[in-house]
Amino acid sequence: MAQGNVKKAPNKQPVTSGGNKKPATKPNTVHQKPTTPPPSPKITTREKQIIWEDDNDVDIEDITFTVPIIISFIILFVFFLRKYIRWNVECQSQNRIEGKTVIITGANTGIGKATATELARRGGRVILACRDKKKGEAVAVKIRSKTRNPDVYCYALDLGSLASVKEFAEEFNHREPSLHTLINNAAYMGPKSMTKDGYEMSLGVNYLGHFYLTYLLREKLKKSAPSRVINLVSDSYTKGKLDFEDLALTKYDIYKAYGRSKLAMVMFTTELHRRLAHDIIQIYGVHPGMVCTDLLRNWPGLSGNIIRACARVLFKSPEEGCQTVVFCTVADKLREMSGKVLENCNVYKVKASAKDKELCKKLWNVSLHLCGMDDQIPPEEQSSSGVEGTNGTSLLTAEDIGSTHAQEEKKEK
Ligand SMILES: NC(=O)c1ccc[n+]([C@@H]2O[C@H](COP(=O)([O-])OP(=O)(O)OC[C@H]3O[C@@H](n4cnc5c(N)ncnc54)[C@H](OP(=O)(O)O)[C@@H]3O)[C@@H](O)[C@H]2O)c1
Repeated sequence: MAQGNVKKAPNKQPVTSGGNKKPATKPNTVHQKPTTPPPSPKITTREKQIIWEDDNDVDIEDITFTVPIIISFIILFVFFLRKYIRWNVECQSQNRIEGKTVIITGANTGIGKATATELARRGGRVILACRDKKKGEAVAVKIRSKTRNPDVYCYALDLGSLASVKEFAEEFNHREPSLHTLINNAAYMGPKSMTKDGYEMSLGVNYLGHFYLTYLLREKLKKSAPSRVINLVSDSYTKGKLDFEDLALTKYDIYKAYGRSKLAMVMFTTELHRRLAHDIIQIYGVHPGMVCTDLLRNWPGLSGNIIRACARVLFKSPEEGCQTVVFCTVADKLREMSGKVLENCNVYKVKASAKDKELCKKLWNVSLHLCGMDDQIPPEEQSSSGVEGTNGTSLLTAEDIGSTHAQEEKKEK
C-alpha cells in the first residue's frame, strides 16, 4: 500500500506546557449529566429493506422480474431441446411379415423389445436372442399375449462368449428352416471388462459377437433370400478410433470404447454389403437416435445419475426409437439403401473414413482371426456394386448388376 497517500488525523488535544496531557474541558459535574449515547432510532422493516437495497445496489423489483424470466427461458430451452431430440419419423409401411423369421439380439429390453413387439404384431416369427433366458422367456410370454402372435420364442445367446454364439447358431440352423432378417441389436456400455474370450467388452459384445453370429448364419440368410441384416449403430461412432495394435483399449473411456464398437459396426455394414449383396442379402445400419433405455445402466458415479435423469426427460421412447429398425425390416424397395446407415427412415451420412475399403477389409480379416477362423478366410466374394475385390479388380459388370437386381425384385414379389 502507498503509505504516503494516507492522511494523518489532526491531533485535537492541546498539549500543556508541562507536557502533561489534560482534557480540554472539565465536565461540569453539577450542571452537566454524564453523556449517555442517544437512543438509536428504531428502524422499521421497510427502512432496513431500503438500506439493504442501497448497500447491495439491487432492486428487489428487478429480482421479482428476472427470476421468472430465467425460469421461463430454461423451460423453453428444455422444451425445444426435447422436441429436437425426440423428432422422429415413424415407419410408414403397413407391410405384414407373416411367414418371415426374424432374430433380434438383446430383445428382452429397450429398442430390441419394442422392435420384437412391433414385428410380432405384424405377424412375423420372432426369435428373441437373449443373454438371460429367464428374462427373455418372460418377455416372449408378454409379447405373445399382447400381440396374439404365438410365434415368439426365446433362445439363449451370450454375445460375450464366442462358444455361446456358436451354440446359438448351430441350434438355430438346426431347428429353423429359414432366416429372413437378422437384427444385431444387443449392446454393452459401461466400465472396462472383458468377454469370456478375453476381448474388451464393448468391442466383443457390440461388434465381434455380432460379426461371428452373422458369419455363422449367412448360409441360412442366403437360402432365405431376399433377406436382410440390420446392424444397430450410433452417431457416437464418430468418437471411436480403431487401432488394430490396441484392441484392448489401454486408455479406457466408456464413451470412446462404445464409440469404437459402433465404428466397427458401421464398417461391418459397409463390408458385409460388399460381400453379401450379390446373394440378395441387404445390409442396413440403423442409428435409432437418443432413446431412453437401460443402455446407460452401467455408467457409474454422479455423471451416470445425471445422464440417466436427463435421458428420462429428453430422450425418445423405445417404441419411437425402433421405428427405423421396423422400417428396414418390413418396407419394400430399400435395395438402393443397402450398405448404408439410416436414421429416421432415411439415409444418414457417414463420414468417408468409416467406409474406407482397405480398413473395412482389414477389420473383416482381423475379426475372422479373433474368432479363430484364420484358416477359413474365404476368397474375396463378389460385390453387386461393381466395387473392387482384394486383388483390385472389379468383380461385377453392369450387366451382372442389372440381372442381380432383376432377380432380387422377382424374388421380392
Ligand atoms: N439408447 C440409445 O440412445 C441408443 C442410441 C444409439 C444406438 N443405440 C443402440 O441400440 C441398440 C439397443 O440398445 P438399447 O438402448 O435398447 O439398450 P438396452 O436397453 O441396454 O438393451 C441392450 C440389450 O443388449 C443385451 N445384452 C447386453 N450384453 C449382452 C450380451 N453379452 N449378450 C447378449 N445380449 C446382451 C441386454 O441384455 P441384458 O438385459 O441381459 O443385459 C439388453 O437386452 C444398441 O445396439 C445400442 O448401441 C441405442
